[in-house]
Amino acid sequence: RIPVAMGHIEGVPLLGSTCDAWDSIYNFQARGDDILITGFPKSGTTWMQEIVDLILQEGDAQKGRRAPTYIKVPCIELIPPKPRPIGVELAQTMKSPRVLKTHLPINLLPPSFWEKNVKAVYVARNAKDCMVSYYYFHKMNKMLPPPRNLENFFSAFLSGDVPWGSWFDHVIGWWKAMDKHQILFIFYEDMIEDPMREIRKVMKFLGKDLSDEVLENIKYHTSFQAMKENPMTNFSTVPNAVLEQTISPFIRKGTVGDWRNHFTVAQNIIFDEEYKKKMEGSGLNFRTEL
Ligand code: A3P
Repeated sequence: RIPVAMGHIEGVPLLGSTCDAWDSIYNFQARGDDILITGFPKSGTTWMQEIVDLILQEGDAQKGRRAPTYIKVPCIELIPPKPRPIGVELAQTMKSPRVLKTHLPINLLPPSFWEKNVKAVYVARNAKDCMVSYYYFHKMNKMLPPPRNLENFFSAFLSGDVPWGSWFDHVIGWWKAMDKHQILFIFYEDMIEDPMREIRKVMKFLGKDLSDEVLENIKYHTSFQAMKENPMTNFSTVPNAVLEQTISPFIRKGTVGDWRNHFTVAQNIIFDEEYKKKMEGSGLNFRTEL
């Protein structure tokens, strides 16, 4: 694999390509009717973007799949290898209402999102499963630095030394911002438990009123199996040189509690101790199994 350059913005580790384009990313001009999907990487943001997209298309999956490129919902800070346009540039060419995505921690979000009072849907996933999912993603995604092994990645994740930084700072930052901004907080575990309930929450937040039949359709098209088979959502159109799906598929497992298959007893103790220190008093409660 070609070595991946990393950089930092205000102490947050980001891809070198993101750092290089930082000025244009930070000065990105949001529009008032944008919808922002956000969350720490591997929290279920692709799942949420498909749900939001289908809510806007009123359940018409064909309409939702008419995207010109596989980047149906561009991640504003992501710079794919040339010649594909960078996230912010692609976003500028999109018609409103745009669905955009970011993994940026709240302090690095381009200020125009708040100036325009944009609605944001934040997807949060328990740190243990998020870490395991991110580990597999590092193995298969050649735009990320390859992890040496799980043990190594475990320490890096806990100390926030992974792309997009600390999971803890990320979830706490966005959680606290709910007082000030239009943010809907959705938990991955709740989506797994009762997708219809969570889809309804998103629908109401977006000011839509869809029939039960349409909602059933959305639930069907956004199920794990449907998204695994859909080339617009399973990223199979992304070249192998970027995502090596034979190492680990993008739509990988989609469960709560996969960390149990990966953490040692000792690692779990270390994780829980660190977790307690960082999350105490945050008011945030995650489920690590259902
Ligand atoms: P796993 O690696 O644990 O399977 P993101 O889109 O933010 O990168 O998150 C990716 C995670 O969401 C992956 O987790 C992926 O499998 C899971 N995922 C994607 N679509 C899903 C769906 N429809 N239902 C459940 N999980 C889904």
